[in-house]
Amino acid sequence: MKNFISTENITHDELEKLFRLADDIKSNKKKYADVLKGYVIATLFYEPSTRTRLSFESSIQRLGAGLISTENAKENASAKKGESLEDTIRIIQGYADMIVLRHFENDSSERAVRVATVPIINAGAGGGEHPTQGLLDIYTIREYKGKVDGTSVAIMGDLKYGRTAHSMIKLLSLYKDITVYGFSVKGLELPQKYKDFLKEREVKYIECKSFNDIPSDVDFIYQTRVQTERLEDKNMKIEELIINKDNFARFSKHTYLLHPLPRVDEISTDLDDDERSIYFKQAHNGIPTRMALIYSIMEDFYGVK
Ligand code: NCD
Repeated sequence: MKNFISTENITHDELEKLFRLADDIKSNKKKYADVLKGYVIATLFYEPSTRTRLSFESSIQRLGAGLISTENAKENASAKKGESLEDTIRIIQGYADMIVLRHFENDSSERAVRVATVPIINAGAGGGEHPTQGLLDIYTIREYKGKVDGTSVAIMGDLKYGRTAHSMIKLLSLYKDITVYGFSVKGLELPQKYKDFLKEREVKYIECKSFNDIPSDVDFIYQTRVQTERLEDKNMKIEELIINKDNFARFSKHTYLLHPLPRVDEISTDLDDDERSIYFKQAHNGIPTRMALIYSIMEDFYGVK
């Protein structure tokens, strides 16, 4: 793999290979401490981020590579002076051997790849995809269920602009016997192109009219934040989308609660101590999965051993 800009770039076998590497990294972190010594990786972020940027930067340093970083490129880098994304990429690739990019436009990673001579990783592109979040989400599903085949996942919240949900369901479609339930409010439903994608891949997609329609024995609930920054109606009512101790009580003791985070109000804090709430552990899986991805791409592209 040279780049990782969409979940459509990866096959089932490549994904499983990556997860096996992530497992090894998780149990033997020290073994990988110097593998990228002498390389430099850049993180170029045009949108806010805590988990994605810091876990990438931690992963880069845990692999022994040097790091250069712009955390608010829209305001602090030359974009502010009118420089195009393409020109910024042309410059940074002279300074770094890989670029991790977060940008507010859906096609930003494709644009970057068109001019780049170094590998590009998409760390979130507008309301489109967030493929590395998808990696850690599926890795967490695999960890808690023991396998991904045969899983049922209810995705809810902002299915229109929630790029993490888009990437997660695309990766799920690489596995067998998957059922996806979708629950959202009017205006935030899953776009037709993702429904078509699931249909093509023979994934069952069942739209729920209310939270109560989600079966109480579903394996995972994947809650997401309403992406207010991408909405015209900033005051959209989301009461129906809130999960709390009361309405979560009917779910099985094997129904795990996932969220890419940040959470606003859509998961009540009274659920944080519930052992089925695994969103903080999910976020920590960003390290082994991102380390595995960076290392694999550097291995393929530069022949790093
Ligand atoms: C998500 C994102 O940026 O898309 N956050 C993340 O990377 N974990 C989700 C969100 O912002 O709601």
